[in-house]
Formats: sequence, structure tokens, C-alpha cells
Amino acid sequence: MNKHILITGGAGFIGTNLSRKLLADGYRISVLDNLSPQIHGPYPQLDEAMLRDGRIHFIRADVRQSGVLEQALQTVDTVVHLAAETGTAQSMYQIAHYNEVNTQATAQLLDILANKPNTVKKIVLASSRSIYGEGAYACLTHGTVYPGARSAAQLKNHQWDPLCPTCNGPLRAIPTPETARPSPASIYAATKYAQEDLIRIAGDSLGISTAILRFQNVYGAGQSLNNPYTGILSIFSTRIRRGMSLPIFEDGLESRDFVHVNDIVQAIQLAMESDAASGATLNVGAGEPTSVLDIANLLVDALGGTVRPEVTGQYRLGDIRHCYADLSQIKATLNFTPQVSLARGIEEFAAWVSSQPLPEDGLDKANEELKKRKMMS
Ligand SMILES: NC(=O)c1ccc[n+]([C@@H]2O[C@H](COP(=O)([O-])OP(=O)(O)OC[C@H]3O[C@@H](n4cnc5c(N)ncnc54)[C@H](O)[C@@H]3O)[C@@H](O)[C@H]2O)c1
Ligand SMILES: [Zn+2]
Repeated sequence: MNKHILITGGAGFIGTNLSRKLLADGYRISVLDNLSPQIHGPYPQLDEAMLRDGRIHFIRADVRQSGVLEQALQTVDTVVHLAAETGTAQSMYQIAHYNEVNTQATAQLLDILANKPNTVKKIVLASSRSIYGEGAYACLTHGTVYPGARSAAQLKNHQWDPLCPTCNGPLRAIPTPETARPSPASIYAATKYAQEDLIRIAGDSLGISTAILRFQNVYGAGQSLNNPYTGILSIFSTRIRRGMSLPIFEDGLESRDFVHVNDIVQAIQLAMESDAASGATLNVGAGEPTSVLDIANLLVDALGGTVRPEVTGQYRLGDIRHCYADLSQIKATLNFTPQVSLARGIEEFAAWVSSQPLPEDGLDKANEELKKRKMMS
């Protein structure tokens, strides 16, 4: 009998890409997802391909409905837990909501596994690089250091780069390993870190194997084009298509590790299938930094846009300067290597975006909300 996988949040970006791959590989798939309007638009419909594909058992429910979850867990071998609210800035003023969907619902899921009949042997959690806060840096004198969040005063003076916590000297970003001290700087990050602890500790005590994957910035076909609170590439793509200005925070040299969704799917499947993943916490990324200005220019070129990105010197409190993944652990544990180059991934993303309906731009509204709350200057 083929293994039965429950994917919470499986109708989302990563979930649809994962479902497609697992179906092709012969897995039985159940998806539990409430088709949140922030992600799926005001008239949510299942991704058409998934709808046509009668092989997926789709449960339209909120992950907080523990009765539904209890039923869903009865015949499942593996849970891939993706359901979450994912807007970093939005989490700063919807604190209880983020805590309920991300933390409390995960606790309820584990309560079911601890107290009700079920067949679950493995949980794979989608965690996030956001739990690190700033990434790892090197100081010429003090070696590897982990600077804290940049202060409001520092940002106000446009001192974008973090300084050495010991000597206040200049730093160079280096790959961030899993052993970095976690330092969540947003409520979203705090809930992802809480999910990690809950799942690892409960899994240990229940004898359920767990694998925790810390994703960097994921992009690719199927990314929500509706959610103005997350997904820098989808936000930019809408503005490029509309011929609108492309405002870039700070000096544009802040960087992220952009990893293609196919590589995330690869990592999740390896973690599901490999015993070596048991109990492991692993980074998943491309392993390379790309500045926000560079990625914006790449996307303008790929979409044939006419308006170049504009560095505004504006900034958001809580944003990090640099973080990119050290992939040595996941290479050693799961033999994972990213397969999709940034150049190919952006071309493919742009082609997919161009085939999609043109969404409203939500960036100005999202930024207004932040300014009102004095979280952006
Ligand atoms: N995309 C990234 O860059 C990234 C980076 C790090 C971590 N992650 C994590 O990966 C996971 C999946 O992210 P994604 O990019 O596919 O996001 P997504 O928003 O596209 O998908 C999330 C899915 O969860 C569903 N959902 C939201 N609230 C729910 C609820 N209360 N009950 C049931 N379903 C609910 C949504 O409808 C959506 O289909 C999340 O846990 C996220 O924290 C994503
Ligand atoms: Zn120093």
C-alpha cells in the first residue's frame, strides 16, 4: 500500500508544488487547507490542476478545527505541516491570530497525536530562516559573530550594516549554520521557532520521527500573487507588469537567499523518505546571497519591464540585512544540492507570472499600514 501523506496548507504555494511531485511518485495525498482569502483571493478556488486531479483528498478546513484534524490524522503515515500565516510585518499587529494559527494549532495537532488513535510515524515541519534574525557574520578580530537586530536609531542614520557586537567594527556576511543562536525578530519568526520546539519535543516523547526544515526565501510558479504581505518577487512582479515604480528599501544591497520551489520540494521529499532526517533541523536554501536590487533588476529584465528599481532609503523595523544558508548539514544528511540556478528560476517564474491574471497592487496599502504603526520610515 502506498504511503499516505497529509499536507496541511497543501493548497498553497509550496503545498501544490509538493502535491504534484508526490502524486507523480505514487503517494496517496490528503490536503487540509482553508483556502485563506489573503492567499487565494476573495473567491478562493482550488488550484485548477489539483481540482481536476481526483486523486487528492481535499479537506477544506481550518487547521485550528481539531475535530477535523483528528479525523484527517487517522490513516496518515506522514504529516507535512505547511499551514501557516506567513506575513512578517503583518504578524506584528495580528499577534494573537499568528499565535493561534501557527503555534496553538500546531500544539493541538500534537495533542491529537498524543491522545487519539492515529498512524502517524513522521512529521516534517516547514520552518523558516527568520528564526535566526540576522544571519552569521565574520569580524576580522572576533571571527564568527551573531549581531542582534539593528536599532531604530541606527536605521534612522542609514547605517545599514550590522556592526560587531564586541568591537563595533565592520562585518562581512557568511553562510548561517543551523547552530546559529536563534534570535527571532518578528512575531511570525517567534511562532515558527515555537513550532520547531513543540514538534521536536513532542515527537521525541511520542516516538514520532521529526524533521525540521528552515527555508530561505522561496520563489517559483504557484506563489501567491494576491498576498501583499509576503513574497518579494510576487509583489515586485505585479508592480513591474503595471509599469509602477519599484521601491527598494535601504541602499538595495541588503541580500536574501532565493531558493526555487522545486528545490524546496526536493528537500521535503528527501526529509520524508530518509531515516537520516530523523530528529534533524536543516537549512534549505540556494546557499548564495543575492541583493534585493539585483533580484529586482533580474525580474525587470525577465518580464520585459520598462521601469527600473529605485532605491528609496526607506526601511522597515525588524528587517534583517543579510542571511544565507550554510548547506553543509543538509548536504551531509540528505545529500541535498539545489538544482535550479537563479537565472533559470527567474526566467521560469517570469514566464509563469505572465500567464496569470494581473492582480491589484497591494504594496502601497501594506506599507501604509506599517507607516501608520511607525514600523516603516
Ligand atoms: N514561501 C517562503 O518563502 C517560505 C519561507 C520560509 C518558510 N515558509 C513556510 O512554508 C509554509 C508554506 O508556505 P507557502 O509559501 O506555501 O505559503 P502559502 O501562503 O502559499 O500557503 C499556505 C497555505 O496555508 C493555508 N492556510 C493558512 N491559514 C490556514 C489555516 N488557519 N488553516 C488551514 N490552512 C491555512 C493557506 O490557505 C495556504 O494555502 C509555511 O509554514 C511558511 O511559514 C515559507
Ligand atoms: Zn569584532
